Amino acid sequence: MKNTTNEPFRLALSYDDVLLVPHYSDIPSRKLIDLSTMFSRRIKLNVPVVSANMDTVTGAEMAIHMAREGGMGIIHRFQSAEEEANEVRRVKRAESLFIHDPITIRKEATLRDALDLMAKNHVTGVIVCSPERDILGILTARDIRFKTDLSVSVMKLMTPKEKMITANRDIGNIEALEILDKHKIEKLPLVDKNGKLSGLITASDYKKTKESPHASKDKRGHLLVGAAIGVKDGMERAELLVAAGVDALVIDIAHGHHNTCIDLVKKLKKKFPSIDIVAGNVATAEGTIDLIRAGADAIKIGIGPGAACSTRIVAGSGVPQLTAVLECAKAANKFKIPIIADGGIKNSGDLAKAIAAGAGTVMIGNLFSGSKESPGEYYIEGGEAFKIYRGLASRDASIDMVLRGDKDSDRQDRTPEGIGYRVTFKGEVRKILQGLLDGLQSGMSYTGARNIKEFWKKAEFVRITGEGMNESRPRSHQV
Ligand code: XMP
Repeated sequence: MKNTTNEPFRLALSYDDVLLVPHYSDIPSRKLIDLSTMFSRRIKLNVPVVSANMDTVTGAEMAIHMAREGGMGIIHRFQSAEEEANEVRRVKRAESLFIHDPITIRKEATLRDALDLMAKNHVTGVIVCSPERDILGILTARDIRFKTDLSVSVMKLMTPKEKMITANRDIGNIEALEILDKHKIEKLPLVDKNGKLSGLITASDYKKTKESPHASKDKRGHLLVGAAIGVKDGMERAELLVAAGVDALVIDIAHGHHNTCIDLVKKLKKKFPSIDIVAGNVATAEGTIDLIRAGADAIKIGIGPGAACSTRIVAGSGVPQLTAVLECAKAANKFKIPIIADGGIKNSGDLAKAIAAGAGTVMIGNLFSGSKESPGEYYIEGGEAFKIYRGLASRDASIDMVLRGDKDSDRQDRTPEGIGYRVTFKGEVRKILQGLLDGLQSGMSYTGARNIKEFWKKAEFVRITGEGMNESRPRSHQV
């Protein structure tokens, strides 16, 4: 044992054990506070929040909305590798002024085929092409609005090439928008010098880009997205996710300070040097350093703080999250590698404390699980709307994973280290996130910090007692 009997144990604190001390500020408005941050070695976000890689939190819909708001979503791995890669593709396709690989269809296909293809890819039009990518026509909502016979061939319904407006693939954004406006069209296919289809610009993407000026985007203008992989099929899954355009691979292991995680980081870095690899979860400086030395580009911190976690009760293992974040951030800072404070955020005050303690970003599950954008429909009970939230290591999630053919075959026999329950339906995630960010900006303004780096330097915590916590809570004085 590392402890001797009379030695006082090291004290470890959680978010509720502390408060941030207010300091002098000359910031005129908290809206001027810059929340941009590093998620990983090469990925910059405009807001320091990512949605958790959980099957009741992040699918493509959530990831799209998180990225539009300046954060990022991490697609869960509780689905086949192909399904996960499709989700990544959907995010990558969701918003871009320039779509590099537009959805195409053959002229022999029927209207039924076209509708299926559009629904599957969440698009409102397809370009009709020859196998050599020569444009033959375009099929949009306008062409099929009043058509009821689904067996008619696409060829008969499309707007033919002669009537289409196309542009050269080198066209500038402003010029493209002028064409869309002048001809009152929604889609502008782009052709290369040989007249072959080579891209697409859409009016709806332009509108979305204008509506979310702070969206997190890659160099080509596509929304950023991360995706989770496990240890067993990590390399195979990574291959499909990288081909789908993923920006960061997040290793999803309960105990990341493990030789299997270290080995996987090394292999991934070797095979995919241009993709940022996030490793975890760990709760110690030692774990953080070992994963950074293996090549990780960000470290995920948190053993057992999550709202659906029972690891600390089942295994008796973990470190209260504030101390874990403080210690791991200090260790990672020496290598200039960001950390992600994962789990345990109950309110915007916790978010402020996690960032003040040194996290680059915070990962959130429970608070986003009741949103419209989390996977699954809401249901009504007793006149109230609910969604389901469940831990990745809960019994239900494990059974589902085995049914889906997960390679981790003893999963359902293990003692669960997570629970599942219903959460109140809360509407759009954008609003939930905005509430959290408002609170964070307020916390930073009380510290006198204009940006996250200043927050790290100026933040000072005081430890509080149970009475301090009681005093902190709003209450009525009526007896
Ligand atoms: P919050 O508190 O935001 O936490 O809901 C989300 C994080 O919780 C972790 N997680 C688990 N931890 N057993 C655990 O010990 C589980 O079943 C489980 N499921 C999720 C995970 O790190 C997530 O991001």
